[in-house]
Amino acid sequence: MTAPSTAPATKPLPASIDAAQAMLAEAGYVCGRDLATVVFLALKLGRPLFLEGEAGVGKTEIAKALAASLGRRLIRLQCYEGLDAASAVYEWNFPAQMVEIRLAEAGGDRDRDALAKDLFSERFLTRRPLLEAMSPQPGGAPVLLIDELDRTDEPFEAFLLEALSDFQVTIPELGVIKAPEPPIVILTSNRTREVHDALKRRCLYHWVDYPSMSRELEILHKRAPEASERLSREVVAFVQRLRTEDLFKKPGVAETIDWAKCLVALDVLALDPQAVTDTLGALLKYQDDIARYQGSEVKKLLDEAQDMAPA
Ligand SMILES: Nc1ncnc2c1ncn2[C@@H]1O[C@H](COP(=O)(O)OP(=O)(O)OP(=O)(O)O)[C@@H](O)[C@H]1O
Ligand SMILES: [Mg+2]
Repeated sequence: MTAPSTAPATKPLPASIDAAQAMLAEAGYVCGRDLATVVFLALKLGRPLFLEGEAGVGKTEIAKALAASLGRRLIRLQCYEGLDAASAVYEWNFPAQMVEIRLAEAGGDRDRDALAKDLFSERFLTRRPLLEAMSPQPGGAPVLLIDELDRTDEPFEAFLLEALSDFQVTIPELGVIKAPEPPIVILTSNRTREVHDALKRRCLYHWVDYPSMSRELEILHKRAPEASERLSREVVAFVQRLRTEDLFKKPGVAETIDWAKCLVALDVLALDPQAVTDTLGALLKYQDDIARYQGSEVKKLLDEAQDMAPA
């Protein structure tokens, strides 16, 4: 869940929108001025950033790029149905406590109060992402990524709202743990359900859309530099054309990158109907979508995409 590493060199927060954009670009993240603006403001005002968008458009990657470019630790809380406060904040290591009790029984040399105090000390505390994010970190406040928030339920959201408002956690046996400096918080959602207004109100919001053709080409240059200029342009044009179709699941940027890599692995130099049909599984992940694009249909899309391709 967390990504500890040797302490990276902390860098100062960007001083302008342009600096924020350049900083993300340096970490391999291509973004427009709109996204750079909310990132800059979130950092400057110390507000959580709430990112919504379709799958594979680069929401999670923003947090990773931010952590890398600011030299902060990235702490990730992956949300799922049934996630509760214990798994998000802390748990007592029950098996280790039991072993300690057994050892104390066998030795018989410790008084009960001392044992009880010991059992609920840091030694037996399992830190989960939220507690970790509120604990001092060597490189300064970490980036806390609360990923796919829409997968949790409302009670957890309410709990999160509280945790994000004062950045402190109370552990009855240990007392209050308060973040020395609030973490940089990024929340993401695929919008499988609406997240509550109260939580959204605390955050700056940005809808991460599919990139324009030129931006997607830039992303491909960064993420799949092994693809030739010609192939990259054809790939991006085809994907952009495909996204205008009424699909069950449109391909995201992640799929564009994957597809380009597959084509390179197959030594495809330029798109043709056969190469597209053979590799469609890298782009479309539902059989109903794939079944629509066979033979002449692919040829038609390819022709139309070629007309759209950037010069
Ligand atoms: N703007 C971008 N610049 C550089 N790389 C990008 C960009 N957008 C997406 N990517 C690439 O696409 C991949 C998928 O992005 P990411 O996992 O962040 O998507 P997501 O929106 O979180 O998707 P999901 O909703 O499925 O979790 C990343 O690994 C990254 O390589
Ligand atoms: Mg994601």
